[in-house]
Amino acid sequence: MARTPLMVANWKMNKTTAEAASLTTDIVMDLKASHLKDIELVICPPFTDIRTVSTVLEFEHSHIQLGAQDVYWQDDGAYTGSISARMLAEIGCRYCIVGHSERRQYFKETDREISLKMVALAAHDVIPILCVGESARVRASGARVAGAFVMQQLEAALVGFLRDAPGAEFVVAYEPIWSIGTGNTATPNASQSMARAIRRQLAALATADVAERTRILYGGSLAYTNIALFAATADIDGGLVGGSSLVAEDFSRLVKNFAATVRGETIEEY
Ligand code: PGA
Repeated sequence: MARTPLMVANWKMNKTTAEAASLTTDIVMDLKASHLKDIELVICPPFTDIRTVSTVLEFEHSHIQLGAQDVYWQDDGAYTGSISARMLAEIGCRYCIVGHSERRQYFKETDREISLKMVALAAHDVIPILCVGESARVRASGARVAGAFVMQQLEAALVGFLRDAPGAEFVVAYEPIWSIGTGNTATPNASQSMARAIRRQLAALATADVAERTRILYGGSLAYTNIALFAATADIDGGLVGGSSLVAEDFSRLVKNFAATVRGETIEEY
């Protein structure tokens, strides 16, 4: 079964609405429909920019989709400062990042909360992008320990989700924390091994069919200069991009190189 390649931009806490409008316009101008053929492209802006980005995408008839960076699991109520999956669905979000390492680290997000968020998203047909990945300290203990850590994270988030939202689509993003925003990617080989282990774990936790159709992304210092190496591997189906998604020219080149690689074309420019 062929999995549709997926590229996701995570703007994190960057861009005012005016900046978001101009960045989105520049990206849309750079990426023609032909570049996006056969791949899915998603932009996850801060909550305050979602409407603006959506307006630009609609006006330009773009195929780029919208996502969010976080969600709260209740539908509505007295939860000051929170945004629900129902709200995200209504504003046009097709995807939502969940359990990003920055949320786990700075906001003390737990596996149980991540699981609840995923279930809430599925209830509103928003596809969760579950982030997992080991710290530098864990990685220093070796590939086996890092692998066990990631498999445990996966299980902790997915057991409740698979039970409470059976059959719902989700995406897994493997993001080694030491590679996020550092300019040091994991090697494509090590990332491919981790992606393969994640797929095996999905088969064990769910079914072989779920494992086969679930997309697994790599994230951490992706750039137009290195995306082809990851896109060419067997089990990595795309990327989650932070820093390189904030500059239109860099991001457009990354997406073009990604799309060309998954189509088996040679990349002309780096
Ligand atoms: P980066 O961030 O591309 O800036 O390393 C990736 C992420 O945190 O999703």
